[in-house]
Amino acid sequence: MMCSEETFHALESFEARESDFLIATYPKCGTNWVIQILHEMVFYINNKEPSIVQAMLEFGRPEKIQTQNEAPSPRVFSTHLYYDNIPKSFFEKKVKTLLILRNPKDTAVSFFHFSNNNPVLPSYGSWDLFFKDYIEGKVCSGSYFDHTASWSKHIDDEHIMPLTFEDMKLDYFNNLKKISKFLGLSLSEEQLKIVESKTVFKSMKEKSGDTHGKLGNVFFRKGEIGDWKSIFSESQSKEMDAKFEECLAGERIGEILNYSRYCKN
Ligand code: A3P
Repeated sequence: MMCSEETFHALESFEARESDFLIATYPKCGTNWVIQILHEMVFYINNKEPSIVQAMLEFGRPEKIQTQNEAPSPRVFSTHLYYDNIPKSFFEKKVKTLLILRNPKDTAVSFFHFSNNNPVLPSYGSWDLFFKDYIEGKVCSGSYFDHTASWSKHIDDEHIMPLTFEDMKLDYFNNLKKISKFLGLSLSEEQLKIVESKTVFKSMKEKSGDTHGKLGNVFFRKGEIGDWKSIFSESQSKEMDAKFEECLAGERIGEILNYSRYCKN
């Protein structure tokens, strides 16, 4: 899941366009969900799918940057990069960016199962071992806390909109409306209802074999809020609370995450 050194350097020559869309996430915060939402929305407005198939900016071979630079608009990209590693042209062109956040406890549980069931990632013999690496930021893609803090200073930028997994789950239709308005994709209520029905968890899980092959059930596991309660010990929960307090509680992004609602018993 890590970006190769060559691809990382090749990204310096990436040419963003004003018409692009970017989805920024820490892994397991709902990346594939929002990619599908954007594909559906772009399809309605442009009558064609976005041209980029392998959407994750930093994955793949360095040569793909050239192909992406030549691909026709509209393009939808996603990334797990820290803010400071995003190619500068995304900011120069004020590319509309959705920052998708999820509470750190559910994110950890999702990441643990994903790591153990995805053959390209390291397997963990136990949850306790994974938890230790996660808290210390030693999992692939680095620390949840550093990643989130890196985006925190920019959540008021006009071209960046933060949204949480939890808000999307609990008030999906209104959040779809918010997304379409922010992206300048004005879908009718009727079209938004269709996007909603195609991208709710149940629909995406049912189609996951077609969209994600053998990893379908791994990417679309439970899609719930609060699964952390099934696996965290009391002391792990307290340790995560302290880490959150130290790294994010004082930041505006900490407020957006609504930690006390989703991560306290
Ligand atoms: P769980 O493992 O908790 O089920 P990513 O796409 O960033 O890898 O995130 C994967 C997580 O998002 C998984 O969480 C997955 O089930 C959840 N997810 C994917 N699509 C979803 C949807 N339409 N609604 C709710 N959750 C979804």
